[in-house]
Amino acid sequence: MGKTLIKNAHIVTESKVFDANIVINNHKIEQITDSITESNFDSIIDASSYIALPGAIDPHVHLFLPTPAGYSSDDFESGSLAALMGGTTTFIDFVTPLAGQSLAMALQERISEAQTSLLDHSFHVSPVSWTDATAKDMKECLKQGITSFKVYMAYRKTIGLSDEALFNVLKTAAALNAIVCVHAESGDQIDGLAEHFVSQGHTQPLYHSLSRPDDLEAQAVDKVLNMAAQTHCALYIVHVSSAKSLQHIRRAKQNGQLVYAETCPHYLLLSDERYQQDFTESSKYVMSPPLRKPQDNQALWEALADGTLDTVGTDHCPFTLTQKDEGQHDFRKIPNGIGGIEHRLTLLYTYGVLKQRISLQGFVQLVATNPARIFGLYPQKGTLQAGSDADIILWNPNARRIISAGNQFQNCDYSIYEGMETRGYPEMVFLKGKLQVKNNNYIGDNLKGNFLPRK
Ligand code: URP
Ligand code: ZN
Repeated sequence: MGKTLIKNAHIVTESKVFDANIVINNHKIEQITDSITESNFDSIIDASSYIALPGAIDPHVHLFLPTPAGYSSDDFESGSLAALMGGTTTFIDFVTPLAGQSLAMALQERISEAQTSLLDHSFHVSPVSWTDATAKDMKECLKQGITSFKVYMAYRKTIGLSDEALFNVLKTAAALNAIVCVHAESGDQIDGLAEHFVSQGHTQPLYHSLSRPDDLEAQAVDKVLNMAAQTHCALYIVHVSSAKSLQHIRRAKQNGQLVYAETCPHYLLLSDERYQQDFTESSKYVMSPPLRKPQDNQALWEALADGTLDTVGTDHCPFTLTQKDEGQHDFRKIPNGIGGIEHRLTLLYTYGVLKQRISLQGFVQLVATNPARIFGLYPQKGTLQAGSDADIILWNPNARRIISAGNQFQNCDYSIYEGMETRGYPEMVFLKGKLQVKNNNYIGDNLKGNFLPRK
């Protein structure tokens, strides 16, 4: 593949902003240097009008997720392409075993399913029950390069864990030096509220949100933080949506607990008035947790700036309008999830960096470096330094675009961000040294990504 020079780059990493030249040799960054002679390169790109950023890592996506309403509408090929077009060069998806299936077996199946991915990827593996075999099974996953497990406190009728099972997973993960990702919502109470609303004839999407109040998220956050402290387990709380949850996370961090937390662009930018519309409109926003109040949006921005939140993932899990229609007469049948994998960077740059809610270096931390560090991918991914994979974004800070279902790459017939204006975009994206995206066109040759065993 040879050598590429990206010259005159304005480089932003979590620790530095500086001007230099990036030398790529095959898949890797060979050198970042002030001085360079321009001979001996197969290609030279002048990056003087761009910002050079590390390729971003989305720590939370659900591609080709099986549900009663069918698979989430992006498979590994379409979802990874959408990610790439938005500047995400690595993602972490999930392994959810069928009842009775071993975690290690489910992992192997998921690795095969993901072979069409254009991007390097890994998985969080979900113990969905606790049996005599689970501890050994988790250890086997660790041997296969899995350092993070995901548990659900919601969805108690299917994959959600009891408190006892949750405690066992945390204890086992701690012994393995692994981290546990948790979907923190009190599942039993939510199921009770949902049943009550439906029995009263309240079947519209609004009642999805009313059955999942912020108190039930905060209560679950508090509970799992205490359990993680007791078991000395490192914790990562996914898709934090509410100001009340942040208070518990802030306190735990102040007490020195090893806890990380994630939010998503939709919890920063959208709020629960979206549920006050007809079925077709409001069902688009059915996700768990639901959208909250504008005060929560504000609290989440502040928590990104003060370090209470560590990452921004997307929880990308789109369903088409036809799939959402499954819940016309009962909100519980609407598949939960929204798409956003390709808009994470432009949204966070426009509404975070340009509105001075976060710094440019903070942006790099949230979308790339922190996910890499937390999930054992650093420094191969998530940074620009000699020896790292040459996953590089050349960001055009001046571009203006409007998000629309009509021009998105993700496979869905709507966008929850329809009509929102964005500034800046990844005009060029390199994957392991090869230029794959140029001016909003995929110019790659269908190069496939790899499963990344983690340490
Ligand atoms: O509504 C959501 N978040 N759907 C995806 C699955 C999950 O709960 O993370
Ligand atoms: Zn999720």
